[in-house]
Amino acid sequence: MTPQAKQWLSEARRIAVLTGSGISAESGVPTFRGQDGLWRTHRPEDLATPEAFARDPKLVWEWYDWRRSIISKVEPNPGHFALASLEDRSPDFQLVTQNVDGLHERAGSRRVHHLHGSIWRVRCTECGAENNDGRVPMPVIPPRCGCGALVRPGVVWFGEPLPGKAWMEAERAAAACDLLIVAGTSAQVYPAASLVPLAARGGARIIEINLEETPLSGVAGLALRGKAGEILPQLIS
Ligand code: OAD
Repeated sequence: MTPQAKQWLSEARRIAVLTGSGISAESGVPTFRGQDGLWRTHRPEDLATPEAFARDPKLVWEWYDWRRSIISKVEPNPGHFALASLEDRSPDFQLVTQNVDGLHERAGSRRVHHLHGSIWRVRCTECGAENNDGRVPMPVIPPRCGCGALVRPGVVWFGEPLPGKAWMEAERAAAACDLLIVAGTSAQVYPAASLVPLAARGGARIIEINLEETPLSGVAGLALRGKAGEILPQLIS
C-alpha cells in the first residue's frame, strides 16, 4: 500500500468505485478472463447472448444454475466488506459493479449500481414480469412464467443494452467523482470500461487495484498490484 493512495482517499470528497469479477475471486467465484476464467472453457456466444438463449434455453439455464449454485455457497470477502465500510463513512459514495453475484449487498453495501443485472433476478421473455428468485437448484429448467413463456436470467448479455437507470447513475458518478477506485476488472468490456476515461476527463484521480496490468492501467494515476481482498482493507482501514 502506497502512502499516496491513502492520501488520495483521505483528500477525496466524492468517491466512486467500479468493481469487476476479480473482487469476488477470493470468495471463490470464477472470473471470466485469465487463467481460470469462465471464458477459457466456455464460449460467451454459446451462453451469454440473446441468440444463445433463443437457440438453447436449457443449456443457458444449466450454466446459470451452476453459477448460482457456486455463488450461493460463498461469502463476501474482506474486499467487499472494506467497500461497505467506506460507504458508511463517506458522505458522497457510489459503487458501480459489473458483478451479478450480489456479494456487495451481502457485505453491507447499500447503494449499488448493477450494470450487468443480477443472477438472482429472473424476467419473463414475453410479459416482462421480473422477480427475485434465489432457488438453487432451479426446480425446472428452463423455468416458465405464469403466462407460459420462458423466463430468463436477469443479467445483461453481450449485445444487449445496459439497464438505463444504473448506467445513468454510473455515468453521473464517474463524471462527478474526484476519486475513482477500479478494482478487479479487466477493463475490456464496454460500456462499463468507458467510465474510467470519463472520470479521468472530469479530473478525477484514479486508483486501479488488480493482480495485473489492464488496458486502462495507463489512465490510472496509481496502479496497486495485488489482491483486492488484501489491498482494499489496507487502503480503507
Ligand atoms: P474479467 O474476468 O474480465 O477480469 C477479472 C479481472 O480481475 C482481471 O483483470 C484479473 O487480473 C483481476 N483479478 C482476479 N483476481 C483478482 C483479485 N483477487 N484481486 C484483484 N484483481 C483480481 O472480469 P470483469 O472485468 O468483471 O459480462 O468482466 C467484465 C464482464 O465481462 C463481466 O461482467 C461479464 C464478462 O463477460 C457479461 O457477462 C455481460
